[in-house]
Amino acid sequence: MSGLVVIGAQWGDEGKGKIVDLLTEQAHGVVRFQGGNNAGHTLIVDGKKTILHLIPSGVLHRNKFCLIGNGVVIDPAILVQEITALQKQGCLKDDKQLLISDRAHVILPYHCAIDQLREAAKGEGKIGTTGRGIGPAYEDKVARRGIRMGDLIQPALLKKRLQEVLPERNRYLTAVLGGKAFSLDSILKSYVALGKKLKKYVCDGSEFLDLQIKNKKRILFEGAQGTSLDVDYGTYPFVTSSNTLGGAAAVGSGVGPHAIQNLWGVTKAYCTRVGSGPFPTELNDSLGALLREKGGEFGSTTGRPRRCGWLDLVALQHAVRVNGLTGLVVTKMDVLTGIKTLKVCVGYQLGNKILKTIPAHVEELDRCKPVYKELPGWTEDLSKVRRLKDLPRHAQSYLRFLEKNLKIPLTLVSVGPSREECILLKKPF
Ligand code: GDP
Ligand code: IMO
Ligand code: MG
Repeated sequence: MSGLVVIGAQWGDEGKGKIVDLLTEQAHGVVRFQGGNNAGHTLIVDGKKTILHLIPSGVLHRNKFCLIGNGVVIDPAILVQEITALQKQGCLKDDKQLLISDRAHVILPYHCAIDQLREAAKGEGKIGTTGRGIGPAYEDKVARRGIRMGDLIQPALLKKRLQEVLPERNRYLTAVLGGKAFSLDSILKSYVALGKKLKKYVCDGSEFLDLQIKNKKRILFEGAQGTSLDVDYGTYPFVTSSNTLGGAAAVGSGVGPHAIQNLWGVTKAYCTRVGSGPFPTELNDSLGALLREKGGEFGSTTGRPRRCGWLDLVALQHAVRVNGLTGLVVTKMDVLTGIKTLKVCVGYQLGNKILKTIPAHVEELDRCKPVYKELPGWTEDLSKVRRLKDLPRHAQSYLRFLEKNLKIPLTLVSVGPSREECILLKKPF
């Protein structure tokens, strides 16, 4: 048995979906272990684009299992839509391919309403959430008033749980946020129907994985969002509401940490962020606009333009440490083609000090000025390159510079959005 975790090392959208899709070829299956449909993972295979929000990015490979783990929060309406769309394109023909943990929490309409009303009330100070109810659903899980997939598929249990939790949520929605109350009957009607559609996939995910592990299967654990959005180690409070780190893979799937041997962190060759919060290397100029345009940096979930900037090695060193990364995946190298001089942030200047680690407090991080190292760029098209040694000399030295500073081996380099536009340097299993 062996387990490989693939997580985002930045603020999300690093290309995790593409990497997981590619590596699934060598695995028996994929588990998503946190987040919800705030994620948008883009796969391009044979010229066809597929965007996934909840279903693991291994789904285009017919005979590989896809498990949505207990750590994920599931909007059942979105999940049903995603399943239907995939089935229309010839995927998920075998119901056994998809599994959903009975312990995963359900996102209900009041979670989305709370998320959106709170953001509107915050005005300028908003987090810039995706408005998908992610935070409120995780809050309910921890507050022990959540509803889980195991409840959703049993109408009597769902009714009982809603009777217990809805009145209090409605009071909060109306009295504190000035919103409208939800009727139990209307939620029940649509969610019983959704539960019926999903029932065949719901199982004990941990028990399923235990069997895979005993049968020495190779398992990929797919992260969503990224390290700087982690609720503990990200730029708090401008973060998402789950642990996005490699360590969360075990808890969010129901396996022990020993089931995982390797953790690969995915980073773009530059940096992006969607939503509010500090971003020391952000480029608010024509170069930032160029990266956005060339890199197609518009959110795959909300369509929002992504903020763009130079690569930040201080943030990446933090990612190596807090995740315990064993391998580095660099995507979107092709987007840097044509930029004469590239900058990489190697420290933060705060007052008269140079910091090599990220301060915990966002107000301090906001005051940090990046210290840059300049590296020469290249002009050649990279998209056809399949061996590291065939990359332009300066592209190779850019990658070697990252490897040397982060002190972990480069395992994969991506040079375009399609599945085959990749240079695999290490075996994943
Ligand atoms: P994820 O959330 O980490 O899975 O990433 P997203 O799918 O949200 O965003 C990554 C975007 O970059 C998608 O549009 C991908 O198709 C695209 N992409 C991934 N790798 C590469 C690459 O190496 N080069 C280019 N040009 N695009 C890439
Ligand atoms: P993938 O998996 C980029 C950001 C939101 C916001 C913050 C909190 O595609 O990389 P939330 O809705 O989670 O409460 O919003 O987190 N965010 C993401 N940014 N990629 C994502 O997912 C994201 N998921 C959440 O923009 O700043
Ligand atoms: Mg994304």
